[in-house]
Amino acid sequence: MALFGRKKRTVGLDVGSGLIKLVVVDHSTGEPELAKVAITPVLADAIVEGEVMDPGIVADAIRGLFATGGVKQKGVVTAVGGRDVIVKKIQMDRMKESDARDVIRWEAEQHVPFDMENVALDFQILDPDTEGLQMNVLLVAAKRELVENKLSLLTDAGLAAEIIDVDAFALHNAFEANYPDEISQMVGLLNIGHEVTNIGILEAGVPILTRDLAIGTRRFREDLQRERGLSAEDAEKLLQAPERSPALDPYVDSRGEEMAVGIERAAAFLQTASPSGPAMAKIYMSGGGSRIPGLGEVLADRLRIPVERANPIKNLKVRDGVFDTLAMDEVVPLLMLPIGLALRAA
Ligand SMILES: Nc1ncnc2c1ncn2[C@@H]1O[C@H](COP(=O)(O)OP(=O)(O)OP(=O)(O)O)[C@@H](O)[C@H]1O
Ligand SMILES: [Mg+2]
Repeated sequence: MALFGRKKRTVGLDVGSGLIKLVVVDHSTGEPELAKVAITPVLADAIVEGEVMDPGIVADAIRGLFATGGVKQKGVVTAVGGRDVIVKKIQMDRMKESDARDVIRWEAEQHVPFDMENVALDFQILDPDTEGLQMNVLLVAAKRELVENKLSLLTDAGLAAEIIDVDAFALHNAFEANYPDEISQMVGLLNIGHEVTNIGILEAGVPILTRDLAIGTRRFREDLQRERGLSAEDAEKLLQAPERSPALDPYVDSRGEEMAVGIERAAAFLQTASPSGPAMAKIYMSGGGSRIPGLGEVLADRLRIPVERANPIKNLKVRDGVFDTLAMDEVVPLLMLPIGLALRAA
């Protein structure tokens, strides 16, 4: 299968509720190279909490993005995420992968609160080379409807899926490629988007827990509009300013507190599940919200661990000119997820 016709370029498509991000990574030389980045805003409320309310508008926006970006390749790697996707580390009787495939649906039933008739499942054995009666398995379950909706959105946009990934795995993928030395510790990945913040906790390079919080830059913006009487535009300016400001600080404090509580809960859940497990060493932020001035400091103070902005091109070759028409420093934090998608050689 892979002997010939291997795709040289992978197109990663991240359909966010605020921005649609398109990234092309060239895999032809063996060393992945970022070859293209294109971004377009989504009309307000066309996507709400990950659900596409107006597929026509979103498909048009995707089409336009491919046209302006000059990307002709139709096969893309994209992802699903949110409440209807569950990533969970489980234990089951040790067996061969092929046997596990036969029983995984039955195993999953005990761990997945969805109607099993309508669930797409995948799994990975985490400790295939160890002995013992039980094995650790990373289970992924997504409501089938979510996957089907994504596929039909792609069809509407004239595209086809090469891989439907999971948001958390794509983030993890980008992290692993750029921070290979950090992978031995327990780290938190925080992708703060327009509507949703994805929390991912990695242990020894494995995403052992994912959670979503319904907080994103939109909440911050609405706080400023409602309580400071700012226009959406002015509020957005404050959120994307290089420095903190007294007008913004109180909201960063209170929303940051909310996020910290969400992270603490996720970490506490892990601690209960395995009390002797390691503690989180560090948090890496990405997404548009990671640019909010002061947010990283608020989280670090509250959680008492270092919080740093993740750089998805730290270890990635970038072709000349990729960021020529973009403000590189502003855009790079938004690219963690789409780069993670495009790093997969399809
Ligand atoms: N350079 C920028 N251009 C436009 N928006 C930006 C920029 N930097 C930060 N933002 C803010 O970040 C938001 C988009 O962030 P991001 O792309 O991570 O979210 P998303 O993926 O669209 O949303 P979600 O994941 O919640 O569906 C915008 O809505 C805006 O508030
Ligand atoms: Mg996003």
